[in-house]
Amino acid sequence: MSGSKVNGNVQLDENGQVTELPMIEGSVGPKVIDIRKLYAQTGHFTYDPGFTSTASCDSAITYIDGDEGVLMHRGYKIEELASQSDFMEVCYLLLKGELPNAQQKEDFTTSITYHTMLHEQLTKFFSGFRRDAHPMAIMVGVVGALSAFYHDSTDINDPRQRMIASHRLIAKMPTIAAMAYKYSVGQPFIYPRNDLSYAENFLHMTFSVPAEEYKMSPVISRAMDRIFTLHADHEQNASTSTVRLAGSSGANPFACIAAGIACLWGPAHGGANEAVLEMLDEIGSVDNVQEYINKAKDKNDPFRLMGFGHRVYKNYDPRAKVMQETCYEVLEELNMQDEPMLKLAMELERIALEDPYFVEKKLFPNVDFYSGIILKALGFPTSMFTVLFALARTVGWVAQWNEMMEDPARKIGRPRQLYTGPAERPFVPLDKR
Ligand code: CMC
Repeated sequence: MSGSKVNGNVQLDENGQVTELPMIEGSVGPKVIDIRKLYAQTGHFTYDPGFTSTASCDSAITYIDGDEGVLMHRGYKIEELASQSDFMEVCYLLLKGELPNAQQKEDFTTSITYHTMLHEQLTKFFSGFRRDAHPMAIMVGVVGALSAFYHDSTDINDPRQRMIASHRLIAKMPTIAAMAYKYSVGQPFIYPRNDLSYAENFLHMTFSVPAEEYKMSPVISRAMDRIFTLHADHEQNASTSTVRLAGSSGANPFACIAAGIACLWGPAHGGANEAVLEMLDEIGSVDNVQEYINKAKDKNDPFRLMGFGHRVYKNYDPRAKVMQETCYEVLEELNMQDEPMLKLAMELERIALEDPYFVEKKLFPNVDFYSGIILKALGFPTSMFTVLFALARTVGWVAQWNEMMEDPARKIGRPRQLYTGPAERPFVPLDKR
């Protein structure tokens, strides 16, 4: 484990039988207890469903301090990256470990730009779906199908092929996402343009039609770029862990990213931005906010405030702050400052942040609380929200996948369990049951 060192140990005392477990220290953050030899030494497993106390790997990509509300990529704070950098630089940083110089940035951007087209045969996949298919269902299918088209970048043991596959995935996701949207609205696919930036190209492929080019406002394309930056990576969340687990068996990168997309779809993860808008729709008016806050607090009611709470952040999600600012900028640009949904969201946030239930449980708005309002204002249907999250998170997934593949000590991920089923019992023949 590079970048970490053993610093002391803890003792596990089981009726006088003492086992020493090493403590490992990373560069920042809490120490971890190394339990890799625990089973061999004691015959016991640890039990941690939901991994609330378990570090599944070591990683040098992203650091989160949930209590302080800090998120850093390779040591750079997300607020600085969102305000002073752009998505292409952040992609480079996540993949390569350092911010690019001007030449490196140009080369990287060119490589991504020149991989944005899809194999034409792949575009036929879309017509196999029903027109009302959820675009996330299309994404899982089409991204998985990339494995059947790009055989020259599926040798996971070749670092060059791994990097080509990574560039392809980052480059083609906007094209696939835009095509999923075009298919659902019955418009022709719009091909990528090499003179546009990553975010501009995505907006162009989504909103242009052959009869009329989409008019690009710099405020809007900058907001799109910032949304991508804010979602680029988030440490070992459920979908990233899914990508790592799938990759640990040696599966090809396109299949691994398809697995990540499937995991991201759920409303407790990437699906939350879609759920926030559905919730705001359901609440309907500022007058109903208190009723829904009460529902969220009621243990007998399954309703939860979507866009609130986080497994790791027990403070304001730093991405939510930037997202809130971006939301104001976009609504101002579009002359939508009086958008009732924004007023409703702000009132909901205000009341929740003062309510003892939310204060005591440290439930703050997360990244998804404001992103849905921005995306709706930009013209995206709610079903596309999670797709945009998947598009942006692809770089995080591939960076984490590459990091794992480069680790010579990589092992297949294989958790154990606390078995609670029947102990051995004799088989009962059918006529005796
Ligand atoms: N509304 C009402 N109560 C909540 C909420 C909420 N949004 N979130 C957590 N709680 C309560 C929960 O009922 C529990 O109460 P108690 O201790 O009395 O049983 C306590 O807070 C702790 O919650 P938990 O479910 O044990 O915490 P978790 O870490 O397992 O769940 C979460 C984290 C994000 C799944 C959860 O907060 C949630 O469901 N939030 C709404 C969905 C959402 O916005 N998800 C997006 C997360 S950010 C983007 C991403 O990572 O994909």
